[in-house]
Amino acid sequence: MRAVAADPERLVICAGFTQALSPLTRALGAPVMALEDPGLADRDRTIATAGGSHLPIPVDAIGARTGLLTGTSASAMVVTPAHQFPLGVTLAPSRRSELPSWAAESGGLIIEDDYDAEFRYDRQPVGALRGLAPEHVAYTGTASKTLAPALRLGWMVLPCALLDAVVQTKHDRDLGSPALEQLTLARLIDSGAYERHLRRARRHYSHATALQPRDGTTASGATPCWLPCAITSRRPRSAAPPPDCTWSSPCPAGSTPPRS
Ligand SMILES: Cc1ncc(COP(=O)(O)O)c(C=O)c1O
Repeated sequence: MRAVAADPERLVICAGFTQALSPLTRALGAPVMALEDPGLADRDRTIATAGGSHLPIPVDAIGARTGLLTGTSASAMVVTPAHQFPLGVTLAPSRRSELPSWAAESGGLIIEDDYDAEFRYDRQPVGALRGLAPEHVAYTGTASKTLAPALRLGWMVLPCALLDAVVQTKHDRDLGSPALEQLTLARLIDSGAYERHLRRARRHYSHATALQPRDGTTASGATPCWLPCAITSRRPRSAAPPPDCTWSSPCPAGSTPPRS
């Protein structure tokens, strides 16, 4: 989905990025995980539940300050290099190359959270970090932005060294991910319908100016969806929009869902 060259043997299907974090943490054995600060809520809790701890790494105007990793006890860094959440910046090239160097020197793991890579319409897309260091990067993707978060469907592309431990750990906890959703997605991909859906959705979202906060920064993560609100939106239906942001309704007036 993101031109990530991946041997199918290295692909592990999971219930989205959030689930991926748990077997990755367990497979590393009580690691200290460096986390972008600010970043997605609850990663620290997922990591703690899986026996790890976390180390905040600040994010500035050019992404996570990866230079701060050197000399720390971190054995992994979770990063959103293509589109930092929530600040929306792309990790600067100098920092992109710092990460694999840190991983190679320290034996650390980079956990690449590529949560919305399919929707890069506001800037030139950057390649996945995994391409730079496949044996040091656990790549994670998700259908939460392209289809719906309620599907709970995601994937990891893993370094060889982690594969068995992650597969075993995940299997111990869930005996595998549901097949029907995977088969449906495979059918969408094989038939070309998924690619057509992405093209239409990209066109539609690039015009969805209502998603832009009034200060002009990117409302990263807030993609609209046309499935029933009750199952698609993580935002409580009673919640008011933040004062500096105009929410797009999940079913904007006068709009039609993209059809594939
Ligand atoms: C930074 C970030 N990572 C990952 C995800 C997707 O998580 P999941 O695949 O568990 O739905 C999101 C979605 O909101 C996100 O904002």
